Amino acid sequence: MRRVVWAALIALLSFGSTAHADNYPSRPVTIVVPFAAGGPSDAMARILGERMKVSLGEAVLVENVTGAGGSIGVGRAVRSPPDGYTVSFGHLGTHVCNGAIYKLGYDLVDDLEPVVLLPSNPMIIVSKTAVPAKSLAELLAWLKARPSPATAGTAGAGSGSHVAGLYFETITGLKLQYVPYRGTAPALNDLVAGQIDLMIDQTSNSINQVRAGTIRAYAVTDDKRVESAPDVPTTDEAGLPGFHMTLWSGLWVPKRTPKEIVAKLNAAVVEALSDPAVRKQLDNLGLQIPAADRLTPEVLGAWQKVEIAKWWPMIKAADVKVE
Ligand code: MLT
Repeated sequence: MRRVVWAALIALLSFGSTAHADNYPSRPVTIVVPFAAGGPSDAMARILGERMKVSLGEAVLVENVTGAGGSIGVGRAVRSPPDGYTVSFGHLGTHVCNGAIYKLGYDLVDDLEPVVLLPSNPMIIVSKTAVPAKSLAELLAWLKARPSPATAGTAGAGSGSHVAGLYFETITGLKLQYVPYRGTAPALNDLVAGQIDLMIDQTSNSINQVRAGTIRAYAVTDDKRVESAPDVPTTDEAGLPGFHMTLWSGLWVPKRTPKEIVAKLNAAVVEALSDPAVRKQLDNLGLQIPAADRLTPEVLGAWQKVEIAKWWPMIKAADVKVE
């Protein structure tokens, strides 16, 4: 008798979740971006959200929940109901590196369900125009000669711009004085204003200011130049061989979100990334769109684990202190 009741209950629950998945979405979907509005993560989430609403038939809203290198916004998504209405936007920093720095109160792999890998971009070494250096070699010499570390703007400990700084310090042996912001958008404003000396930023964030000449670019952290910034050399060309870092992004939902809903969200992003108008916007920002066969939830899940194994040792060795 007890077994019959259990079987009925499980059938009811799965029927409930399948029925729920069938008419998903029936109200707006929110993408939680863990960094400030106007930054690279925000820009990508809004470009994709605009196109996803066509496939999903419901509005896709962006909510910026900032702080602690993005870990607060991710925490918000992790604690949301597993119903597909709260989607976590993140990247190498928030969904890999933060796990090696913060006591998060959630597990980046066990408490989140991967949905899709998103476009990536190399980092770019940029400075305020007042820095007396015209090449990366001159910048390194200037940094070496300084009595105190130069100030470097970041989006907080564990963010992409911070981890790029840690990697730069590891490779060059030079020290940086980090100035944390709630995102690289406000950091970039202060770089343009000459309030901070430099950033190792996402190309997609700095590219327009580089084109406008309001900041100076020295190199992109890749072995090939960025098509939309052909004048900026690679770190290999500019004298810092092997300093390669690509900031990739992704979407996740809370664990136990029905597979059918993950599939619908994934399909909406895949459609958006194959839309010529969306691709043009992303290309213009220097973003590299993953190949179609890499746009599955499984690929993101596996890649996240590979990157955790790669980056945690360097970050732990840096012994980053956070409040
Ligand atoms: C942002 O959107 O501000 C960036 O993704 C932050 C970062 O990780 O550097």
